[in-house]
Amino acid sequence: MKIACIGAGYVGGPTMAMIAHKCPDVQVTVLDINKDRINAWNSDSLPIYEPGLDEVVFGCRGRNLFFSYDVEQCVAEADVVFVSVNTPTKTKGVGAGYAADLAYWEGAARMIAKVSTSPKIIVEKSTVPVKTAAAIEKVLSHNTGGGVAFDVLSNPEFLAEGTAMSDLEKPDRVIIGGRMTPSGLKAVQTLSEVYAQWVPKERIIATNLWSSELAKLTANAFLAQRISSINSISALCEATGADITEISRCVGTDSRIGPKFLNASVGFGGSCFQKDILNLVYICRSLNLNEVADYWEQVIKMNDKQKRRFVDRVISSMFNTVKGKRIAILGFAFKKDTGDTRESPAIDVCKGLLDDGALLSVYDPKVSEKEIRTQLSLPAGLGWDSTKHPFVQQQASEINTKIECHANVYDACKDAHAACVLTEWDEFKSMDLGKIYASMTKPAFLFDGRNVVDAAKARDMGFVCYGLGKPLDKFIMGDEFNR
Ligand code: NAD
Ligand code: UGA
Repeated sequence: MKIACIGAGYVGGPTMAMIAHKCPDVQVTVLDINKDRINAWNSDSLPIYEPGLDEVVFGCRGRNLFFSYDVEQCVAEADVVFVSVNTPTKTKGVGAGYAADLAYWEGAARMIAKVSTSPKIIVEKSTVPVKTAAAIEKVLSHNTGGGVAFDVLSNPEFLAEGTAMSDLEKPDRVIIGGRMTPSGLKAVQTLSEVYAQWVPKERIIATNLWSSELAKLTANAFLAQRISSINSISALCEATGADITEISRCVGTDSRIGPKFLNASVGFGGSCFQKDILNLVYICRSLNLNEVADYWEQVIKMNDKQKRRFVDRVISSMFNTVKGKRIAILGFAFKKDTGDTRESPAIDVCKGLLDDGALLSVYDPKVSEKEIRTQLSLPAGLGWDSTKHPFVQQQASEINTKIECHANVYDACKDAHAACVLTEWDEFKSMDLGKIYASMTKPAFLFDGRNVVDAAKARDMGFVCYGLGKPLDKFIMGDEFNR
């Protein structure tokens, strides 16, 4: 069997590498129009950082795993074509700020139709609005010259960045949605057999197309909702003296609720939670389900509020001004074990602090200086409704003079008035707090947006310490309860 995958990104690359690794008889080619990305996949330095990825790619590459920008030729020869292109939030036109932009998907489908001379199974790997498969089927059937037959399947991906390889190796489930026709059922069977080479059969769920597409959006919405729920309670904890870690423990031990995804944070980030919920909101509004849309939109509003709340806490604690003060930003990726910064809460927090006149010293073990500067210079409000965006954008050139990037945590914190932990990198748990405290301007503030630092130890060292959702230090201003 020959598999081609259009889109060599965070999903296409690792997913196809795992298929090639587990199915030595299948030839897998990952394709992209971005030549730099393909060249990187063919080099010693892969374009994305993911624990365990290098080993799998280097083990299969050149054997049954290939990376190419000869997209049309490889698609023409394939039996199964995965489409794993980006589906970002529309920034212009109808549905801007909410709807998924399917232009890349439609472009891929038109190209498949144009070059195909043999029957193919087309697999939706990207996260798409419910009913996208119907549109894809139309694009394919109206653009094929020789009456080539296509079966469209939905096979959403549930991997999380940072744990992608273990998620792919031991998935909770693989969902395959198809038409309930003889050829649709046969296509579902064909794809199931690929996964069955390493995934237990009971974890491969065959269902209909629309349920499969909507299940993906629903899963992401539920996960994000849990984070917004616990984050909303973190605000209540700070106002009352309760402790969010204790709340998570007490609530999460209820087997109906479960312990996962109950870590309060400075806000969820990543390329998908916000995009997929906005897409869900858009679909609901289009179908006149306004209360359903409002319900899910609140998850995003809560997330924006959490980022704003963190920025406000930093500013109010530091005597209501951060103007001209140096603030160390520890962590810029949207979560640990990835170099991905898409929708990272660190971006909004940094912009909020810059707007108030702060100078930033940023350190992240996996994010480059170029990426940090690019993200902080992008206009605010891309994607999510810019009119409601809480931060005002400064000129890119002005911002660049206010940022320094450092190669380690100690250099970033030197002479800083405050340090903000924005990503839960393991190394922040074991950093030398005494050394950091000694090098900082006093009073030295530590704002932990991930609750990874030992706050008691930090306080012993002399830090004024804020933990998200934790009882407030008396020193932290703006707290009625402890004053
Ligand atoms: P990405 O931006 O990293 O990769 C997409 C790639 O597709 C890009 O390299 C782009 O150049 C390429 N591309 C676009 N149009 C193309 C075309 N016509 N021909 C060839 N290549 C083309 O995106 P990603 O993070 O891999 O996400 C892809 C999809 O998977 C999205 O729909 C996303 O919602 C979904 N998803 C992502 C994750 C994740 O963790 N990132 C997890 C599950 C699902
Ligand atoms: C998420 C889902 O977990 C995947 O199942 C899904 O496939 C993927 O989105 C997608 O569709 O793109 P990902 O965004 O890579 O994966 O990472 P998560 O582990 O879900 O974390 C997302 C954000 O939530 C991060 O910013 C993380 O720090 C935050 N988070 C997570 C919390 O703030 N608290 C938690 O308890 C868990």
